[in-house]
Amino acid sequence: MITGNARVAGVIGWPVRHSRSPLLHNFWLRRYAIDGAYVPLPVAPEAFETALRGLRAAGFAGANVTIPHKEAATALCDTLDAAAQRAGAVNTLVFSGGGIHGSNTDGYGFIANLAAHGVAATGPALLLGAGGAARAIAAALQDAGAQVTLANRTRSRAEALARSLPGLRVLDWKDRAVAVAGHALLVNTTSLGMAGQAPLDMDLQYAPAGLAVADIVYAPLETRLLAEARARGLKAVPGLGMLVHQAVPGFAAWFGIRPEVDGEVFAAISAGA
Ligand code: ATR
Repeated sequence: MITGNARVAGVIGWPVRHSRSPLLHNFWLRRYAIDGAYVPLPVAPEAFETALRGLRAAGFAGANVTIPHKEAATALCDTLDAAAQRAGAVNTLVFSGGGIHGSNTDGYGFIANLAAHGVAATGPALLLGAGGAARAIAAALQDAGAQVTLANRTRSRAEALARSLPGLRVLDWKDRAVAVAGHALLVNTTSLGMAGQAPLDMDLQYAPAGLAVADIVYAPLETRLLAEARARGLKAVPGLGMLVHQAVPGFAAWFGIRPEVDGEVFAAISAGA
């Protein structure tokens, strides 16, 4: 039930209709019988600042921020946590009397999902891609003590990322298959393999026994990369768990309860995947 006293949050994106976050947060709101709501907020880039200030003025507790606003949001925050500063991007906003606090929980969500699958974050890790997701995941893995290597189709983008994350190694895209031999963790941070996109072209024949393969793509739940990993007896870490775990700190900040991640949560948001 939503009363006049309800806490309200939402997800700001453009487009936002494919987001699973409303299903996820409203599942937890029902589970914990919280007087609150979480709504989709489609906001075009040119309206982002107006919308953000309006949501705060309207008493929202905060919001998630997704594509294409994650970088723009950093400039509108009064304070940023260390992960957001390092990633140059924000995915979680908390509104308070003190202003707008921005954090980035993508790296946390990725590491928590690895842990839930019994995979250590200590690497060494080979990341495919050099976009915003690669940046957040690389920084989180480095913080966990992993040596991180990046291979991206456009090498200059990987090198630019390496300049802001010292210690990051860069490989040529064409060397990715052979290079996997020296790694404990392989991560697809590109959108390749997502429904409607080309599959990721990644040969796993050089994968060492014990390699864990993680994908950030979660639609389909089981990408071709993960299916090939499983077929070779490797550990596969699906991307949906990252989405669920990155949502935990925001929910806790807005609604006051740290929500539990379990099978029912996945069932609630997997429908139609
Ligand atoms: P993000 O949302 O993570 O910021 P992005 O900037 O769109 O995403 O980046 C997508 C990633 O997928 C990039 O690393 C991109 O490689 P380029 O930097 O060379 O563009 C990668 N990518 C997209 N299509 C690809 C393809 N067909 N082959 C290889 N990599 C591809």
